[in-house]
Amino acid sequence: MSTNIVWHEASIKKEERREKNGHSSFILWFTGLSASGKSSVANAFAHKLFENDKQAFVLDGDNIRHGLNNDLGFDEVSRKENIRRIGEVAKLFVESGQIVLTAFISPYREDRQVVRSLVQEGEFIEVFVKCSVEACEKRDPKGLYKKARNNEIPHFTGISAPYEEPVNPEIILDTEQYSIEECVEQLQQILSEKGYI
Ligand code: ADX
Repeated sequence: MSTNIVWHEASIKKEERREKNGHSSFILWFTGLSASGKSSVANAFAHKLFENDKQAFVLDGDNIRHGLNNDLGFDEVSRKENIRRIGEVAKLFVESGQIVLTAFISPYREDRQVVRSLVQEGEFIEVFVKCSVEACEKRDPKGLYKKARNNEIPHFTGISAPYEEPVNPEIILDTEQYSIEECVEQLQQILSEKGYI
């Protein structure tokens, strides 16, 4: 635990940064099974935002686990810590006036709720990337489901570890039914309807 620390208010306010950027800042929290399409949709949508002169950045599970979180595994406690750290980082992005897109399995409802409560009302948008285990297993782009079935990967989400579906997500994208491009279109439409972009 850190002690003897004092919070310093930022000299540039979040609102001032938003005004300069010409758009709001918020977290688009993608959650779903491995291979459900979180990273693909998040990256494609970030690209669209970028082309439209919006400040957007993707935090991706596999990438973050190469650096910031390379000390964490996949047991429940590690996943909780993974999401806690990402939540704090995502909050900083919101403070910096950016749209941050996070692509983590984030299998536990409680952990996602913790992130939601870190930021202000409306700054956390949960996007459930819906795809059945069967379909993800068929895709298996990294060959991980196969390994998990052969007991080569412990605690594999959907096989030997749980995935808790969101109860009331702001957005649901069904990647079994729709292509990545269609999901990006749906996101664009919903977010502009809601006045986020
Ligand atoms: S989370 O559950 O802690 O949110 P995160 O999104 O960071 O997971 O990492 C998931 C990625 O790690 C998967 O896409 C997959 O490539 C890889 N991975 C390695 N081991 C596991 C495992 N046991 N369960 C799920 N994903 C795993």
